[in-house]
Amino acid sequence: MTDPDQAPDPTERGAQIAAVPRISIQAFCETADMAALVSDVGTERRMARAHMKVHMGGAAAAAEAYRAAPTPNLIIIESSAERAMLLGSLESLAESCDAGTKVIIVGHLNDIVLYRDLMARGVSDYLVMPVGVLDLVRAISQLYTHPSAAPLGRVVAVTGCKGGCGASTVAHNMAWSISRELDVATVIVDLDLAFGTAGLNFNQDPPQSIADAVFAPDRLDANLVDRLLSKCTDRLSLLAAPATLDQPYDLPETAFDGVLDILRGSVPCIVLDVPHQWTAWSRRALAAADEVVLVAAPDLANLRNAKNLVDLLRTARVHDTAPRLVMNGIGLMKRPEIAVADFAKAVELSPMATIPFDAKLFGTAANNGQMIGEVEAGGKVAGLFNDLAHRVSGRVEARRAKRSLLSPLVARLGRKRLAT
Ligand SMILES: Nc1ncnc2c1ncn2[C@@H]1O[C@H](COP(=O)(O)OP(=O)(O)OP(=O)(O)O)[C@@H](O)[C@H]1O
Ligand SMILES: [Mg+2]
Repeated sequence: MTDPDQAPDPTERGAQIAAVPRISIQAFCETADMAALVSDVGTERRMARAHMKVHMGGAAAAAEAYRAAPTPNLIIIESSAERAMLLGSLESLAESCDAGTKVIIVGHLNDIVLYRDLMARGVSDYLVMPVGVLDLVRAISQLYTHPSAAPLGRVVAVTGCKGGCGASTVAHNMAWSISRELDVATVIVDLDLAFGTAGLNFNQDPPQSIADAVFAPDRLDANLVDRLLSKCTDRLSLLAAPATLDQPYDLPETAFDGVLDILRGSVPCIVLDVPHQWTAWSRRALAAADEVVLVAAPDLANLRNAKNLVDLLRTARVHDTAPRLVMNGIGLMKRPEIAVADFAKAVELSPMATIPFDAKLFGTAANNGQMIGEVEAGGKVAGLFNDLAHRVSGRVEARRAKRSLLSPLVARLGRKRLAT
């Protein structure tokens, strides 16, 4: 049973909920409040793959509906009935339930005897009203997430508000710091298939790339993804971009779903280097991430685009934290800049980090295929990336994730690639 009073802070709760797989769900509500809640649940980002249908009429309507029709993967029933009546209507529903169908009851009675009776009859969960959107999403998610895969990897998507503003540099340095400072196994996924720089920045030239996963959906599994990863450091691996132009990359919206699902189920932290473009798949990558980091330089075009991105992401991710803002390349001599405070005020976000322009430091790192922390260990800028890593990864979740390196892929990664 869910006790709303004991529930932790919504952002913390949300961060640990795994995406729900492609299941069919039908909800039978008694009240308009519950119907509204279920509709909200259906549009939550973690439910993007699931298919949800809402009906009224509670348990009786459910029993009636499935007398002739097949049952979905999951049935959610709201019931305010007292114990005997609820158990009775469940029994008639059970007669027409297909094998494998799960049932969640949302009730109005906080009654442990009823809870036990329901569990004994095979009900998967019993939630007591009032229930929040994330409470229900979590209850659904937990039914379909294998215990050995929990908690799933945290996805941090990094993108630039304008081309060339340093998004990839921030993504790579932040990921490097997450793996090193927080000791969390991390994978960088370079989604800039044509021009990605992750390989260059880590001085890697892997023979295979993410394209081998995206263009071979039939062969895609944890083993293939494991083979495509190239090791940068003990705890950091790279899923590089092909960075070749022998084919165009007009990818469908769901092109990266398969590979990201595999990574999410097996690596504690996944940093996406999302190129500055607006495609169905790039929008999806940002909307579905656990954290979004927007990198901006202090000029007008960055400001306009940052504002548009923030507005869009706030709407698309109502149950998540706002995107994080990183101001990069601040203080370039003789360049008129928008003051960081003004920029922050305009987009209504205070920057999580403000990184100075430093041509020598960043130029040296880029030319040598090194991270800032390697070029100038202990320096101020390296410290900024460490700080960024702590903030963006939600240290508590990251620590927990690290302890549960249980799934087979991570076990292999741990031995072959990520173990110290
Ligand atoms: N704070 C900084 N000071 C100086 N140079 C920087 C800074 N940040 C990034 N750079 C340099 O700016 C260049 C562009 O950086 P990067 O490739 O990370 O940008 P991007 O936003 O990912 O670009 P693209 O739109 O091509 O993906 C690189 O040469 C990088 O070394
Ligand atoms: Mg880039």
